[in-house]
Amino acid sequence: MRGNSGIVKDPPGRVIIVSNRLPVTVVIEGQEVKVVPSSGGLATGLGTHHERSGGLWIGWPGDLHNLKPEQRSEIIAKLSAQRYLPISLTKEEVERYYYGYANGILWPLFHYLLDRMPHESSGWEVYQQVNRRFADIVASHHQKGDLIWIHDYHLFLLPELLRQRIPEAHIGFFLHIPFPSTEIFRILPRRAELLRGILGADLIGFHTPSYLRHFSMSLLRILGIEAEIDRIWQEGREVRLGIYPMGIDASRFESYAQDPELKAEAETIRKEQLGAKILLGIDRLDYTKGIPRRLLTFEKLLERETALRERVRFIQVATLSRTEVEAYGAFKESVDEIVGRINGKFGTASYVPIHYVNRSLTQRQLAPLYMAADVMLVTPLRDGLNLVAKEFVACNSSLDGVLIVSEFAGAAVELAEALVVNPYDLDGVAEAIKKGLDMAPEERSSRMKAMRERVRAHDIHWWANRFMEDLSCVQERERRFIRELRMDELEAIKERIQVADQVAFFLDYDGTLSPFVTRPELAAPDVSLLELLDQLSRQPGISVHLVSGRERISIERWFGHLPITIHAEHGLWSRSPGRAEWIQNLAVSCDWKEKVRPILEEFIRGTPGSFVEEKSAGLAWHYRNADPIFGAAQAKELRLILFGLLSNTPVEVIAGEKVVEVRSQGIHKGSIVSRVLVTQGEKVLAVAIGDDRTDEELFAALSPDSIAIHVGFGPSRAPYRLASPAAVRSFLRSILSARVVQ
Ligand code: ADP
Ligand code: G6P
Repeated sequence: MRGNSGIVKDPPGRVIIVSNRLPVTVVIEGQEVKVVPSSGGLATGLGTHHERSGGLWIGWPGDLHNLKPEQRSEIIAKLSAQRYLPISLTKEEVERYYYGYANGILWPLFHYLLDRMPHESSGWEVYQQVNRRFADIVASHHQKGDLIWIHDYHLFLLPELLRQRIPEAHIGFFLHIPFPSTEIFRILPRRAELLRGILGADLIGFHTPSYLRHFSMSLLRILGIEAEIDRIWQEGREVRLGIYPMGIDASRFESYAQDPELKAEAETIRKEQLGAKILLGIDRLDYTKGIPRRLLTFEKLLERETALRERVRFIQVATLSRTEVEAYGAFKESVDEIVGRINGKFGTASYVPIHYVNRSLTQRQLAPLYMAADVMLVTPLRDGLNLVAKEFVACNSSLDGVLIVSEFAGAAVELAEALVVNPYDLDGVAEAIKKGLDMAPEERSSRMKAMRERVRAHDIHWWANRFMEDLSCVQERERRFIRELRMDELEAIKERIQVADQVAFFLDYDGTLSPFVTRPELAAPDVSLLELLDQLSRQPGISVHLVSGRERISIERWFGHLPITIHAEHGLWSRSPGRAEWIQNLAVSCDWKEKVRPILEEFIRGTPGSFVEEKSAGLAWHYRNADPIFGAAQAKELRLILFGLLSNTPVEVIAGEKVVEVRSQGIHKGSIVSRVLVTQGEKVLAVAIGDDRTDEELFAALSPDSIAIHVGFGPSRAPYRLASPAAVRSFLRSILSARVVQ
């Protein structure tokens, strides 16, 4: 069942949540040790869901070092009663992994605030070390059928580390902060390692479509992996990408709004303002939240709208956060200074414009503030989602509040009826506040109603259920986990080849016998490959067919002297061993070339690094050396143009590995198989090895008792896989030695 508010659906296995911080933190106050709720959206949001599900939560409970041994065991017992498994971090780890790499480097960069990063990035080794420790602990608690759900930027490496430890595990990863544009992300020296770490998951979730798009672009630019909208193939596994905007425990906040005690408190807060309207801000004290600009906007408003002085008050609650990171310390001081200055400037004996509360409140304590506020200011410079905005909406049962939300908060995508502002445009935000204060009751209530319905329907349980349901689908579906040829399969294949009277090998060249290089003409075979093919083809009963998409010249130059049959341009041309001439297997018209060539030339001019390979019955536009993102976009554009142009022409447009190829219809690698088998007889055992789309035509033409091997781990009809050209060569070598031994 999906999306039923309040219902916690039990997935097939246990859910293990893994995050840096547990939703509760251990604090020492004098002699007393207390367990208090953690602040921040991950903890407050997911915490209530965990309370109602039967899973385990693994994470850091805060600093336990100063506890006496008996206090420690008491706390651990207390935590485990709530199904929390604490991971303790050493002082150095807290400093270098948590404050250092995660919050000193990743946090500001992912929020586009590069000036908050230290000049020298440090902590990477400890970040790796802590991720490894999390992996060991999670793996030691994992049971078959469990779903592992990893959260946030502290643990980017964990999915892959767990995949190495438990290859068949079901792993989900959710990012609570924005995924920045690839131009920002690629600043990180460790960008490739971080991406590979995340790709260990089966399902990767983001709050908004643009975060997912940025992630896909980074995969393409940095790892050269092209996503198919919501999925990619990674080392034989399908990795799904999804959009899951996080929700809140809406019914809990709605019930606060009906609680007589809290209603009375809200009323008291209102009365205390002596008729002044209330603007409200509630945040962790974090430089991403836009607090200084919000305060300056308020100052502007009071300067400009003199009538509002003493008639509007700003309550800002800011709980201290990550105080040991240098950027946070300096930030706190600057906020204190701005608050003091504005209060000094506009304050009177009876009026303090800004009421600044520097402490953490429970959600129950926050509710009366949400209920009393006239205008809620959620104006972060950048925020993954922002749950505060949704909490305000859920508490506003009177429908008379106005929400102002930054366009750079993920929540703005869902809360479109709010007044959406650019927090860098101070005049614009001041105008929005004025508009909010003056808004007619009907407009306020119609905007609020629409938002409340969405917040209620898409609550925390809806969010977690959807993610878990999609993750468990990976389990329910037969897992498309593609692996390399196993030893026993290799042995069985070798045996069949040994006993067969005749064996015909159909081998592709680029990407199969030789790795891809920057330009086709640079992929000349090395001596060891030539020797291997030579020896294989000299075995009694074995014939070797090199079936390439290349034009004749290079194939002949490289392989013409070997006793093998060479086929060029996907089988349009064939040349038998020892013969000088090529046979054309099919008569084709190439009139279309005159139409296509100028278009490809235009694409060469417009796409630096790309070039065209001319074949007798084909033209191939290669973009391997172009900018990966631009190249891929241009390839899509080119295919669209060609499909339109050539729809009634006997040609095919094929999207290959960083190449778009146009070839005359009727040519395909499969035609070679039937031609060879007709001349050699039905009893021949065919073994085909290839890596790209055109090799699928080869596999399709094989009889069911043939052997088809795909190189790489993408989708293919071939039942067997080899990882790389190097693996293909060692496979062929092992065949050779088996025949020799016999
Ligand atoms: P972030 O996760 O970056 O802190 P969110 O707005 O998504 O931002 O989540 C903040 C959560 O922490 C909310 O659930 C909110 O109620 C709580 N919170 C924020 N500020 C305070 C505060 N000053 N005191 C107590 N809780 C707070
Ligand atoms: C944000 C992050 C969370 C983090 C929270 C509080 O919401 O996305 O992962 O837990 O802030 O930060 P802290 O550093 O106190 O855990």
